Amino acid sequence: MNSPDRQLESSIYPPPPALAQHAHVAGRAAYDALVAEAEEDHEAYWARLAREFVHWKHPFKKVLGSEKAPHYSWFEDGTLNVSWNCLDRQVAEGRGDKVAIVFEADDGQVTRTTYAQLLAMTCRLANALKAQGVKKGDRVAIYMSMSVEAVAAMQACARIGAIHTVVFGGFSAHSLRDRIADTGAVLLITADEQLRGGKALPLKAIADEALALGGCEAVRSVIVYRRTGGAIAWSARDHWLHELMATQAEHCEPEWVGAEHPLFLLYTSGSTGKPKGVQHSSGGYLVQAAVTMKWTFDMHDDDVFWCTADIGWVTGHSYIAYGPLAIGATEIVFEGVPTYPDAGRFWKMIERHKVTVFYTAPTAIRSLIKAAESHAEVHPDRFDLSSLRVLGSVGEPINPAAWEWYHRNVGGGRCPIVDTWWQTETGAQMITPLPGATKLVPGSCTLPFPGIAAAIVDELGEDVPNGQSGLLVIKKPWPGMIRTIWGDDERYRSSYYPAELRGYYLAGDGAARDRATGYFTIGGRIDDVLNVSGHRMGTMEIESALVACTELVAEAAVVGRPDETSGEAICAFVVLKGARPHGEAADKLAVQLRNWVGKEIGPIAKPKDIRFADNLPKTRSGKIMRRLLRSVAKGEAVTQDVSTLENPAILQQLFETH
Ligand code: WT7
Repeated sequence: MNSPDRQLESSIYPPPPALAQHAHVAGRAAYDALVAEAEEDHEAYWARLAREFVHWKHPFKKVLGSEKAPHYSWFEDGTLNVSWNCLDRQVAEGRGDKVAIVFEADDGQVTRTTYAQLLAMTCRLANALKAQGVKKGDRVAIYMSMSVEAVAAMQACARIGAIHTVVFGGFSAHSLRDRIADTGAVLLITADEQLRGGKALPLKAIADEALALGGCEAVRSVIVYRRTGGAIAWSARDHWLHELMATQAEHCEPEWVGAEHPLFLLYTSGSTGKPKGVQHSSGGYLVQAAVTMKWTFDMHDDDVFWCTADIGWVTGHSYIAYGPLAIGATEIVFEGVPTYPDAGRFWKMIERHKVTVFYTAPTAIRSLIKAAESHAEVHPDRFDLSSLRVLGSVGEPINPAAWEWYHRNVGGGRCPIVDTWWQTETGAQMITPLPGATKLVPGSCTLPFPGIAAAIVDELGEDVPNGQSGLLVIKKPWPGMIRTIWGDDERYRSSYYPAELRGYYLAGDGAARDRATGYFTIGGRIDDVLNVSGHRMGTMEIESALVACTELVAEAAVVGRPDETSGEAICAFVVLKGARPHGEAADKLAVQLRNWVGKEIGPIAKPKDIRFADNLPKTRSGKIMRRLLRSVAKGEAVTQDVSTLENPAILQQLFETH
């Protein structure tokens, strides 16, 4: 955890004057003015931006709806179409021949798709969906890797008012099944295989397996994008994407939907075993995705933007599939991985495509630092990165050392780094520097985006003074906010609006503000959620997966421990049904269980450490003492009171098996 006082010791980086001069938000005074405007009239401020950034088919009159709080609505009586805003509008404004997407494949092949072409593709795809019987409000699951087709698939759903749910291509058949079943999706779009790091990995085969698991009976057809041409099984419900598109018209009248019509569902981990289907709106979501895209990255017409996230995560929704297109930008979509063919891939691509704004995750930076330290040929100083203007970071706290390295070696000391704090639930960036306005302090995400009422409070919702840690909350509703958890309004209210917090949104992160500057520093999750390489994982989900191995596992507890590269590492304590294994037998079982979790959830959920014990430390009422396990996992002395432990002897054993 970065302590707030650390800020005082660190260097401060003011905005580069040349950048500040031409920035959309130029200088601290401009930022302060926007904050004042929002404070004076929160609704009028967001209404102004909603009119400036989004084209409404029917203009809204009502701004914020609080009748069903905390299920808020924004711009409720307005109608729009998200895909029209991202595509037709750009063509209408003269960007038809502008490149929307520069796609670089895993093997380095590049394809360029203009706005006019992306519009035509999206329309054909939308017509194909309609021909398959997909209607407004139907759910469509998308299980694809990074491709122009995947972006077009999302846009096509938006065009016809279908609600997409993208499932990350690294998730297992079980995870995919759970998401399809929970949404009641009627159609699945996938690919034959995906290419990553020179290897072809299955997608269609996993999709087939998911559908065979049961619970997905609503799925009437599967559309398959042919990426590799690899051999796949085929059944009557399967259709090739290119065949369906070939017979469809290039025009598709958009479905004008109400601002609150759900645009997508995206599953994320919470503190129970069951992931939550975060429901986002069309109007409010697009407004915030577009405004943050333009201001946080200070995007101008000739910028080349690259967000390295996957479309399976919210970053890939807001800053690949929607935000960049909503402002008519040119963006890179990358199929591969940062380490193939070598760890210089990112730098090589920035040089090749003259990327001006680069947005990535601290984990990627940390692993590339390691690589650059041992292999000079992949060090960023071997590449011409002079095109870069602005750098971004997202997904987890960036430690000051990684920040400084990124600033110096990638940004050449001249590019501001926007450390953007937000969540799947917030829809878009919430606390972030603006590159032409905010002085930067490494390790701090600085100040709220204008119009975002972020604050630090105690358990009763009372403000805590600067310099003290507390709960990060958002005091007022914001346009891009989560509307509900799909099918579970009650879980939405209890997770994000607990009664004690006076109607504030509870983010689930601990944080503090600097005494002098008021800058925010994020400490990490306060619930049973881990952040592993910027991916959110619920400890309970992994526990459920472990105990589902009923042949072997009697009980399991999962905690996180700090890890130099991935931020946090997953550490599982397992009680077996049989005797506790030792030595080689233990190693073998650990591998077996790790693969089991990989199969149940996906490779990202595989525990790094698995420790076997005869028992887990529990209170007399049977509650697992996770805090104690966290200390054991870290290898630090236990400072907690253990007098309430039912089985104190187990502690000794847990330390010994370390
Ligand atoms: C959690 C949200 C934001 C989109 C990708 C992750 C952590 C995110 C930062 C940051 C410190 C951060 C928080 C948050 N987080 N950005 N700049 N500094 N922590 O979305 O999977 O919904 O995870 O990621 O803990 O709650 P997500």
